[in-house]
Amino acid sequence: MTELKRFAAAHVHNPRALPAVYGPMQARLLNAQALDAAKRVISSWPGYAPTPLYDLPGLAGALNLARLSYKDEGPRFGIGSFKALGGPYALYRVLAAEIAAKTGEETVPSDAIMAGRFRDLLAGVTVACATDGNHGRAVAWGAQLFGCRCVIYLHEHVSQGREDAIAAYGAEIVRTPGHYDDSVRAVQADSAANGWHLVTDTAGADYGAIQTDIMQGYGLIPDEALGQLADAVPSHVFAQGGVGGLPAGVFAPLWERFADRRPRLVVVEPQNADCLMRSAVAGEPATVPGDLDTVMACLAAGAVNHAAWEVLDTCADDFLAMPDAAAEEGMRLLADAPFGDRPIVAGESGVASLAGLVAAALDSELRAALDLDDASHVLVIGSEGATDPAIYERIVGRPPAAVLKG
Ligand SMILES: Cc1ncc(COP(=O)(O)O)c(C=O)c1O
Repeated sequence: MTELKRFAAAHVHNPRALPAVYGPMQARLLNAQALDAAKRVISSWPGYAPTPLYDLPGLAGALNLARLSYKDEGPRFGIGSFKALGGPYALYRVLAAEIAAKTGEETVPSDAIMAGRFRDLLAGVTVACATDGNHGRAVAWGAQLFGCRCVIYLHEHVSQGREDAIAAYGAEIVRTPGHYDDSVRAVQADSAANGWHLVTDTAGADYGAIQTDIMQGYGLIPDEALGQLADAVPSHVFAQGGVGGLPAGVFAPLWERFADRRPRLVVVEPQNADCLMRSAVAGEPATVPGDLDTVMACLAAGAVNHAAWEVLDTCADDFLAMPDAAAEEGMRLLADAPFGDRPIVAGESGVASLAGLVAAALDSELRAALDLDDASHVLVIGSEGATDPAIYERIVGRPPAAVLKG
């Protein structure tokens, strides 16, 4: 019988979480109408298909849960992560507004842009952003789809494999010293100086439509999942956070739709980059001092996206912070599937939500604190596949293709 490894997770319950009806502030930022609009646009792009939702009955049994559903964002548009839903959608909205302003056209559908109808106009447009890997890859993919120039800023800790994946979409790469937050500041300054459109997935108190459009795109994840679950509403949803856009984008539609019957919403972060948990404790956006090093490279954010925090502040019920070893073990657990489930390929950041669930379910105090029991149906967001295959192989011991062959 396989013994699951136990890891200690830090836990904070959010005293400000409101179980009542969706808040007016949150509804101003993210709402069902805007989600419908995002869905219409994104589902019209080439290669769109809902990502798979897998039931993992073996692991659910080992964790003494009724049901475990895993939303696998690895295959999203062939770019490896859920990020293809956010940055490219915000980019489309930026380009459509630019085209409308210059041509007077009232509606600018994305297929007209992709067909090259505005090629000359877009030849002078540059978009830019900073990234830990996945957001920049998604924006580069979108820029190639829509035909504009793209410059991506990478801090010094982003792996070569992730740089190569971004450059493959024709983006220019700028390397900056320091961590993610340093690269965010660098691209902000250069975009302002050069007149580039900054499609950034994080912002301070001056956040705007780009950050909310990105999160609105992420709303397709729970929307698809509920359809795939034939409207069986999970009791818990676990989503990992970097700057907070993913959990905010996933949780908001669930709160809006289910109000006080919403699932219990749990944010999972790396121990060394727990800016969301710190914000929950402080009651306002907080930063992580010092070293952000974590194997969960795409979650290595020290500062919160204020737009995401507007939502998470009263939406997220709990925050968990995990050691790196839990994520690595989670990757092997999904790959080896020792309880008879299908093997799943998940990257270091993509598996964080599952790692958080495993740690919580095996710890009697935390299990009780999160109301997890043998009647619980947990939905975890698997936010990426093997976005850096070399790192994946080092941790799991074999390449992604070998895992899928079983
Ligand atoms: C694979 C993966 N999961 C989760 C996240 C977290 O998203 P956010 O920073 O919007 O919270 C990221 C961010 O880059 C990511 O790449």
